[in-house]
Amino acid sequence: MLIRLIYLSRPIGEQTAALTDSILRKAHAWNAQNDITGMLCEGQGVYLQALEGERSKVTGLYARIHADPRHTGLELLHCESIAERRYSGWFMARVSLSDVDPQTKIVWPEFDPYSATGAMVMARIDELVARGSPVQAAKS
Ligand SMILES: Cc1cc2nc3c(=O)[nH]c(=O)nc-3n(C[C@H](O)[C@H](O)[C@H](O)COP(=O)(O)O)c2cc1C
Repeated sequence: MLIRLIYLSRPIGEQTAALTDSILRKAHAWNAQNDITGMLCEGQGVYLQALEGERSKVTGLYARIHADPRHTGLELLHCESIAERRYSGWFMARVSLSDVDPQTKIVWPEFDPYSATGAMVMARIDELVARGSPVQAAKS
């Protein structure tokens, strides 16, 4: 059974592109092997990640991510069974929140993901993906 799970967290310490790169480099191999697809939005002091795949794999990965000391304040925003993947082929694409729109930028205080519903956050992720170009650590 396929599911999609979305959570939100805050990095511990400085959120740097190098740190995200190193997380994703390792994540990619495991995700590809286990057919986990998704999107990691990072920047503005938050991580927002969508994970899709077999339920047992996604829940196992979420438990590991939850225990990762590089971030804190994890909140599960959304989890549903899905018929098909939204991020098919992305073994973890990355969207930089600060690169999305250099003119207007996403102003997080206007959209506080910590007080948004899962549906709102998913719509926002879709908007980010449509407006920014996801960069990958790897596409199948
Ligand atoms: C924001 C964030 C996102 C992550 N995403 C993934 C991921 O998609 N896949 C993955 O295998 N590890 C991911 N990790 C790394 C895991 O938390 C963990 O370090 C990794 O799975 C190795 O687990 P282990 O040290 O228990 O073996 C992520 C970590 C962070 C902080």
